[in-house]
Amino acid sequence: MILIGPPGAGKGTQAAFLVDTFRIPHISSGDMLRAAVKEGSALGKQADDYMKKGALVPDDLVIAMIIERIGKPDAQSGFMLDGFPRTRPQAQALDAALTNAGVGLDVVLLIEVPDELILERITGRRSDPQTGAIYHVKFNPAPPDVAPRLVQRKDDTAEAVGARLAKYHSETTPIIPFYQQRGVLRRVDGVGTPAEVTARITSALADKS
Ligand code: AP5
Repeated sequence: MILIGPPGAGKGTQAAFLVDTFRIPHISSGDMLRAAVKEGSALGKQADDYMKKGALVPDDLVIAMIIERIGKPDAQSGFMLDGFPRTRPQAQALDAALTNAGVGLDVVLLIEVPDELILERITGRRSDPQTGAIYHVKFNPAPPDVAPRLVQRKDDTAEAVGARLAKYHSETTPIIPFYQQRGVLRRVDGVGTPAEVTARITSALADKS
């Protein structure tokens, strides 16, 4: 399964529900890159500048990271990709890797949210460094015992959001027809409460079977 959508669409929020339901690993390219930056690895050092500006990390780095990850034992019965692929070369590399491994793609979920709602969602996002849980200062406030330890991502600034949205439209939306032609694309309206979006995803997945 692949989750696609603009920055702040709710991919990470909905992924928490999906991995619980399907018992598959959540493979988020953004989370993996942030972990690499935190640990100061060679990949993290190369990725940091791109991420802070809201630019995309070069394809060769991200492709190698994800292809290696989906080859791990816990991904052999299925996995959910979140944030990858987001360029044509990434989609082609994934396609080739899945074909080589004899793995079929069940569904590509596209969570659609208009640009004008994205800024408020992203600048209000906070996350719990202990559990990885995602909150929002207005739409999903953290419990009082968790709130003091919440952190904000370096790329969740108004300036970086503009760059991230521009990249989404120029690089990622062109890969959507590729999945539509294969009959695996499911579009879900991401406007509404997280629970409403979850309900739409549930029915979009049921439609597939
Ligand atoms: P990544 O981490 O993938 O970020 P993103 O795609 O920009 O997506 P986000 O994590 O910002 O948003 P989300 O859709 O998960 O929303 P969330 O659920 O948190 O990538 C970060 C960077 O890494 C990139 O810019 C790039 O530099 C690099 N990178 C990553 N992958 C790459 C790749 N493949 N190639 C190259 N570079 C790559 O929700 C957002 C907020 O809204 C939260 O506060 C949440 O509580 C709230 N919220 C969620 N749902 C709702 C709702 N229904 N109503 C109201 N609020 C809601």
